[in-house]
Amino acid sequence: LRVLSVASECVPLVKTGGLADVAGALPGALKAEGVEMRVLIPGYPAVLARTEAAETVWESPDFFGGPARLYFARHAGLELYVLEAAHLFDRPGGPYLDGGGSDWPDNDIRFGALSWMGAQIGAEGAGGWQPDLIQCHDWQAGLVPLYLKARSVDLPTVMTVHNIAFHGLMPAARMAALGLPGWAFHPGGMEFYGQVSALKAGLVYAWKVTTVSPTYARELRTPEFGGGLDGVIRARAGDVLGILNGIDEADWDPATDPHAVRFRQPRGKAKARAALLEEMGLSDGPGPLCVVVSRLTGQKGLDLLLQALPDLVARGGRLALLGSGEPPLEQAWRSAAARHEGVAVRIGYDEALAHRLIAGGDAILLPSRFEPCGLTQMYGLRYGTIPVVARTGGLADTVIDANPAALAAGVATGIQFAPVTAEALSVALDRLCDLYADTDLFAKLQRNAMRAPVGWQGSAAAYARLFREIVPTP
Ligand code: ADP
Ligand code: GLC
Repeated sequence: LRVLSVASECVPLVKTGGLADVAGALPGALKAEGVEMRVLIPGYPAVLARTEAAETVWESPDFFGGPARLYFARHAGLELYVLEAAHLFDRPGGPYLDGGGSDWPDNDIRFGALSWMGAQIGAEGAGGWQPDLIQCHDWQAGLVPLYLKARSVDLPTVMTVHNIAFHGLMPAARMAALGLPGWAFHPGGMEFYGQVSALKAGLVYAWKVTTVSPTYARELRTPEFGGGLDGVIRARAGDVLGILNGIDEADWDPATDPHAVRFRQPRGKAKARAALLEEMGLSDGPGPLCVVVSRLTGQKGLDLLLQALPDLVARGGRLALLGSGEPPLEQAWRSAAARHEGVAVRIGYDEALAHRLIAGGDAILLPSRFEPCGLTQMYGLRYGTIPVVARTGGLADTVIDANPAALAAGVATGIQFAPVTAEALSVALDRLCDLYADTDLFAKLQRNAMRAPVGWQGSAAAYARLFREIVPTP
């Protein structure tokens, strides 16, 4: 079975969040299921610099306003189609934002072009390879199913939602430049309150819709989480499936981690913990050492943690945070570190430090307001770093709360809290401190956590099942 995956970021070439981890991990995970997956990605500078064209498979002198070519490349075990179009992708800054943190003004054209190319590969193949199915990740690939339909190509498509908060909205006037069919511009199609929504187009025209956890799949049906698209999700309820993400178990392995003090048992964590305290300039206290590795945006609820901080510190807890994102949140965290001796903050993106935080922490905190899946709570589990999570999305699906029943059954792996408020978070941190004070019980939680399944196996099989269900057998 041949699958083309269309994604705007992909590890190890370019990453702003978990989408890149997932796009980069799926091809390897699916190989074991007999699925051959190639990834189509834009030729950003970082991608061009790290891939070498094995073969040019398509070319045009005028592709959405400039010359372009598509080349096939292999990199780090991945088989890639790179869309090289300097006028669209070869610029400094990030995949979506310029150096000043604003969206590129032509993001609709950039990712419309990416989607068009996905449909082109689906319709005609590239370099002698043609997919049986296309998986489209988030709004950046949302127009693929519509482009296929407009060409009357009946190819199975799966729209995978990593975050419904980003719609890929564009003015209706862009339809002409993007070659989008007028017949799809209505509320039952790609129209969203007078604009075009690339994500909605994907949700409406894809054969199936998946999202990255079963709980988020259910939440998407509600106005609270559906971001205005809950009606579309409800209308397609029978075609929407939640499949949990996995993590890269080779990259995130406490026994072989090249970035941190290694350990195999919870008691081996002591050295990693001591090293982390020292690196972050924190003194030890009677409470747990909590860590956070996160984008700093409203989604992640870290403003609530700021409010709960005094209680945690008062109980002798420590907090070490690594994150970057919205400037006001960065500033708030810098001043929290200045105010509290037990709090250390690093603003920035640092892969190696992320490993040391997760290895050395006693607990990892995710007070997210919504979380389609979340990966860092699973890193935490693997390292015996107890997750304290909001009961939402993938967080609800991956952590077993240490309630009396779970403790009695010996299956608890962390702490969940709801509603997502500063008060409820404070109560959860209180529970954490109590559990931490019971050394034997805490070690039991850590052992459970380290045994929890967090790899791709089950989920890769679920994707493969779904793909086979909709690809007609000859
Ligand atoms: P999201 O995609 O919403 O940001 P995920 O938990 O799915 O959330 O994925 C986030 C990924 O980005 C994880 O691999 C996490 O380790 C990484 N990450 C986030 N912020 C940082 C940072 N400041 N430094 C290093 N890695 C980070
Ligand atoms: C999004 C979500 C995150 C999820 C990731 C990968 O960035 O915010 O929860 O883990 O996609 O699917």
